[in-house]
Amino acid sequence: MNIVRIGVVGAGQMGNGIAQVAAAAGFDVTVTDIAQGALDKGLGTVKNSLGRLVKKGTIDEAAAAGIVSRIRWGTDTALHEDGDLVIEAATENVALKYKIFEDLSQKVRKSSLLATNTSSISVTAIAAHSDRPGRVMGMHFMNPVPLMQLVELIRGMATTDETYDAVKAAAEKMGKTTTLSRDIPGFIANRILMPYINEAVQALYEGIGTREDIDTTMKLGTNVPMGPLTLADFIGLDTCLAIMEVLHGGLGDSKYRPSPLLRKYVEAGWLGRKSGRGFYTYEAR
Ligand SMILES: NC(=O)c1ccc[n+]([C@@H]2O[C@H](COP(=O)([O-])OP(=O)(O)OC[C@H]3O[C@@H](n4cnc5c(N)ncnc54)[C@H](O)[C@@H]3O)[C@@H](O)[C@H]2O)c1
Repeated sequence: MNIVRIGVVGAGQMGNGIAQVAAAAGFDVTVTDIAQGALDKGLGTVKNSLGRLVKKGTIDEAAAAGIVSRIRWGTDTALHEDGDLVIEAATENVALKYKIFEDLSQKVRKSSLLATNTSSISVTAIAAHSDRPGRVMGMHFMNPVPLMQLVELIRGMATTDETYDAVKAAAEKMGKTTTLSRDIPGFIANRILMPYINEAVQALYEGIGTREDIDTTMKLGTNVPMGPLTLADFIGLDTCLAIMEVLHGGLGDSKYRPSPLLRKYVEAGWLGRKSGRGFYTYEAR
């Protein structure tokens, strides 16, 4: 299975990062989103990210221009019709992902592979909403995609060995290291990370410390690059809440109950960096 063209559904923080690394690895890339604004912002983010790499001397201007020219953007999923591998990176919502896979089944060549960048939702269930469960995988990139080394791979119940081998090879061509997780809510990364972040939000809610005290304690005390509340703002508080809900619903253990404060922030539209305000405030990007 030779992957040459990669489609990306969703041009948000993850989608535009996946598009950038795929184009940088030499794949021809198509990106779709329901919102034209998200596509415009996605292109701007890719250009800024490449601009920083040029400044650092990692790549030259010509290479950056070549990467930008290998990505086509649009609102119609028919753009992915010839994609060899189409990676869904839309909002973390079960019903939405099912609908996207039903739509991709109509639009994308039957022999092509489909992947989901879901952080927590059952890959098996998403695959069952496609016309080709054997050719569907979880391909969990980390944020920010151009900088983070890992892609966590998840096989659904029906995923074939050929699909796994081809998706792993595509991730490796993008310069990533892969791990394999069973298809259980949260997989490996978020099964461990999200309860930690949720506990930090709960500590803030209970007044155990200020946001700075909580973040500094964990950053300097456990030698991680940033504190859990800063990290939650990076990830997006809506995404954190959605993952906690999948863990809570899927595993049924009360230890995964989302903190009421996390829910309040999301209700307020304080989603973190992407909305300009979360646990901290940010300049418009
Ligand atoms: N943020 C993270 O740190 C992170 C890390 C790994 C995986 N993920 C996963 O990646 C996915 C995307 O997360 P994100 O952080 O990029 O979110 P985001 O909010 O930045 O972007 C989501 C994008 O999906 C688009 N969208 C919504 N419905 C769509 C549809 N029907 N068709 C096409 N596009 C649609 C939205 O317009 C938006 O641009 C989620 O499944 C999330 O769990 C996120």
